Amino acid sequence: MADFIVNGRSVLCGEVDIHGAKNSALPILAATLLCNSKCTLYNCPELSDVDAALKILKYLGCKIHRQCDAVEIDPSNAFGKEIPDFLMREMRSSIVFLGAILAKCSNALLSYPGGCELGPRPIDIHLNSFKKMGVEVDERFGSINCQCCNGLCGATINLPFPSVGATENILLAAVTAKGTTKIHNAAREPEIIDLAAFLNSCGGKIQGAGDSVITVEGVAHLHGCEHSIIPDRIEAATYMAAAAATGGKILLKNVIPDHIEPVFYAFREAGCDMEIGENTIKLTAPKRLSRIKLIRTLVYPGFPTDAQAPIMTMCTVARGTSIFIETIFQNRYKHANELLRFGANIKVEGRVAVVEGTERLYATEAKATDLRGGAALVIAAMCAEGVSRITDIYHIDRGYQSMEKVLTKLGVDIKREV
Ligand code: EPU
Repeated sequence: MADFIVNGRSVLCGEVDIHGAKNSALPILAATLLCNSKCTLYNCPELSDVDAALKILKYLGCKIHRQCDAVEIDPSNAFGKEIPDFLMREMRSSIVFLGAILAKCSNALLSYPGGCELGPRPIDIHLNSFKKMGVEVDERFGSINCQCCNGLCGATINLPFPSVGATENILLAAVTAKGTTKIHNAAREPEIIDLAAFLNSCGGKIQGAGDSVITVEGVAHLHGCEHSIIPDRIEAATYMAAAAATGGKILLKNVIPDHIEPVFYAFREAGCDMEIGENTIKLTAPKRLSRIKLIRTLVYPGFPTDAQAPIMTMCTVARGTSIFIETIFQNRYKHANELLRFGANIKVEGRVAVVEGTERLYATEAKATDLRGGAALVIAAMCAEGVSRITDIYHIDRGYQSMEKVLTKLGVDIKREV
């Protein structure tokens, strides 16, 4: 397993081109299954989660040709209905394939994705929504067997929580279902809009993506299309946090600033100066950051849970006390324990974390416990005095393309040790 070795006290300075969004690419890759001809995706990030999604598509019968960030998928002979356990385990979000397989084959057999490093990841909202569309669900011995002998039917679905994955799964199931589906309390994340845009380019009829009510008029067939994945708003927020924590200056290129707007207030409150362009964000950090009074993670357009960990590292070196309330996931503070090893002062009580800023962090060995938490540790190592080792960086590779190359270009002394 690889580690990152980071020589600290770096000041991050320079330009970075943001890659395509992991959380857009994954459901769109699942969506390609529904088409009757070849799809080409551009700006598709090179990540281990994307590799896992492509392995699933291949297993189901797709032909795949990948060249850097362009991926061609030919699903015309893909009629696989089962995803085996070893592939489901490679990526927790593989559950998004369920809607696509059901839409294509009217039945599906998947092993249960189970819990993960962020706590339990139930899929009750997904399965209850499918039941409303006429699916019989049989869950036993860790697998989910879904059948809809008469095909999927449109339905009115009221989500108890605007789950991102459930909204995506319903879109995939509904786009070629008989009749009209209405999703109330739908997730509004930019990745939902991107998935709907892809499906509409393939001939789907989806209206209202990005709002709380989405209407899907089922169509008979979808054809292939060319689509460019939106830029990754969380990758952007992470590199902004890295620049802010190290007192640096960064120009992000290839971003959609509107998507990142929910985190702007945190950077401004911390004393950073930001210039927002059409597709760029320039952030200049002060010598020492100020505390951020309160960060409460919320569904979009609230503060994203995925940016909580990297921004927590910023607060560990800020002047004053910052408070975090994590409302989306039950167990998303594992990085806090690892940050203590750097000398950070953090107290966690349930969903609340209190961060008392300190002037200096010290190098240590720390273990990435999850994707965003791993990124938070790399930022801490960049701030710390001395040479740190971050282990278990396979978590980071799931969602940050060549992080060490990006950071080296920005002046950080970091290397991957295998
Ligand atoms: N939930 C349920 N039942 C369900 C579905 C969700 O109780 O059937 C709960 C979850 O347990 C969680 C909350 O609802 O506590 C939010 O879950 P949601 O379904 O909205 O999230 P997701 O689809 O599993 C996606 C992203 C996550 C991101 C969340 C929230 C992908 C592949 N993953 O997960 O991204 O944190 O939305 O925005 O899109 C990451 O990139 O690091 C990451 C974890």
